[in-house]
Amino acid sequence: MYTFKDYYNNEVKLSFKHQPFSKKPLHVWVICKYQQKWLLTKHKERGLEFPGGKVEKGETAKQAAIREVKEETGAVVDKIYYIGQYFVSGKTENVIKNIYFASIQALKYQNTYYETEGPVLLAELPANIKYRNDYSFMMKDGVLEHCMTYIEKYF
Ligand code: GTP
Repeated sequence: MYTFKDYYNNEVKLSFKHQPFSKKPLHVWVICKYQQKWLLTKHKERGLEFPGGKVEKGETAKQAAIREVKEETGAVVDKIYYIGQYFVSGKTENVIKNIYFASIQALKYQNTYYETEGPVLLAELPANIKYRNDYSFMMKDGVLEHCMTYIEKYF
């Protein structure tokens, strides 16, 4: 397990074990790859980030992950793998998120991408994300770093 502070100085615990913090997490985050490129979305307020969001009633976390990827990028998931879970101790509430790695089979144009401006494909993630104001705070802590190392090792 890894413990570190996020962009807002909240404590984060990250684990690559199977759902150590909650069997029914309410949030999901999906690291997506399409044709050798990373697939992100541009959130209207937060900036560039991997897609994700909240699990809705009657949905499993994996179903939410597939739905959020489609809504925020137009992408159809081919394969999706659970890789880990993290726990954020927020000022007023705690957030538990499942992390997935997904390969994308197709990118389809949509009239709406919900709270985002839609898909952004990147051959490589920049090394200086932490200092860039066009990237979301979610991309600025150890979660991204550790997940990238994990994906390089196991996929
Ligand atoms: P709405 O209910 O949709 O308005 O969302 P919210 O603004 O209440 O945010 P949410 O419930 O998604 O998260 C609450 C707080 O948890 C946020 O303000 C963040 O500080 C923190 N948080 C949420 N997701 C992440 C994440 O992926 N990483 C980190 N480090 N913090 C997060």
